[in-house]
Amino acid sequence: MGRVLRPRIDDEAAFRAGYPRIGPFQREGAGIGGQNSEHPKARRGFHAYHDASVAAGGELSGGGPGGNLPVVMSARPSPHPGRTPSLSDRLRARIEAGGLLTFDDFMEAALYDPDDGFYARRVVGEAGDFVTSPHVSPVFGILLATQIEEFWNLLGRPDPFSVVEVGAGDGTLARQVLGALPNPLRGVTRYSAVDRSATARATLADLDVSVAADLSDVSGPLVGCVVANELLDNLPFHRLRRTAGGVVELYVGLEGERFVLHEGRLSRSELADHLPDLTEGSEWLTRPSAVHFIEQARRVLSRGYVWISDYELSDPGPTSVHGYRHHRLEGDVLADPGSRDITAGVDFAAIARDAMQRGLSVWGPVTQREALLALGFRDLDHRAQARQIEAIERGRGIDAMRIYSNRTRANLLLARGGLGDFSWLCLGVGIDEAPRSVSNG
Ligand SMILES: C[S@@+](CC[C@H](N)C(=O)[O-])C[C@H]1O[C@@H](n2cnc3c(N)ncnc32)[C@H](O)[C@@H]1O
Repeated sequence: MGRVLRPRIDDEAAFRAGYPRIGPFQREGAGIGGQNSEHPKARRGFHAYHDASVAAGGELSGGGPGGNLPVVMSARPSPHPGRTPSLSDRLRARIEAGGLLTFDDFMEAALYDPDDGFYARRVVGEAGDFVTSPHVSPVFGILLATQIEEFWNLLGRPDPFSVVEVGAGDGTLARQVLGALPNPLRGVTRYSAVDRSATARATLADLDVSVAADLSDVSGPLVGCVVANELLDNLPFHRLRRTAGGVVELYVGLEGERFVLHEGRLSRSELADHLPDLTEGSEWLTRPSAVHFIEQARRVLSRGYVWISDYELSDPGPTSVHGYRHHRLEGDVLADPGSRDITAGVDFAAIARDAMQRGLSVWGPVTQREALLALGFRDLDHRAQARQIEAIERGRGIDAMRIYSNRTRANLLLARGGLGDFSWLCLGVGIDEAPRSVSNG
């Protein structure tokens, strides 16, 4: 789809029309085909105005890049004497003491600070800040279970069979998958749910799964699969920009109390390896943390599949760094860190390249729409339609309406220009048989 340019981030009408993250539930015309629905994370090329502060860019001044400095207290008196310093206070103190922060360090704190980071709260779901595919419809988890069943068959029906979900959040997907796995597969499945958020882990503890904080805490080697839905877009990244003088990195610094972006030398020269052709002024991002995830997944599996679904970073124009709060897209990701999600699309080409270098098989990416159709979406929908017609014939109008509404939500998973444009990628560790959902026809 074409690039969507937003004239003004604070233009409320344009903003809500294009980017309500809860769009699938609010927009008219989603309909059975879901053609008109949108999921903001799938919108490509979200343009500029994401940081009003970009314009304030300057040279990297003194102190060098922030690196992995510990969070320190400010020498300056707290703006709120007697109160625990906020995450903003602590980040300001850190910049004052150690210099500019890489965007990746800023994002790490804003999302994952154990006390005040965005993921210290329960944020995914209709009562939170945004929704993901399993929150839109359980059909997502039902068809992922079909995919997992195929992994099991391709691996020779091992017993036990391990499913490791990384970034499992509130366990919605785990519940759907476990509820849909058929026997005897369900009986031999050992499900581990990994999430670095303590709040998420507390929720996951109520499920019939093992819970871990990090993929490296899961003991291997395992035969099975590692699955990750909308994990990678939330892994911290470095931001790069092409200028007349070459490629620079964007750091977070201070202008008074405000966090602003500064241009500076690359914090690590290899960040610019494999950059696409960038025109002057355009940006890209690199995520060493995604490469680390692939390596961890490779290590934990002796044989198996890694399945990733996310939205793709596809445009070498300005990067689509943006945030979500209360189901609204926000352009300024620097103000009030911890109060909103920070996300940007995933460079699937970089992941595929890295996986191949590690000797893994790679299939995809294909669109979520293609993958779900290949896994039998239409059959499920036809069966639901038959139940809907039967309910009408028996005079059970409310049941018919409920089934219709569920089918409409399920169709949002396929929506072009929305969730249907998400990408599915599979990697094989010690196996080179292609799963049908991602085998490109
Ligand atoms: C956007 S949410 C997705 C949640 C869930 N997969 C879904 O589809 O609803 C991303 C989740 O990944 C978790 N996360 C981020 N980095 C992680 C890491 N390195 N290891 C485990 N979990 C991580 C976050 O805490 C958060 O719960």
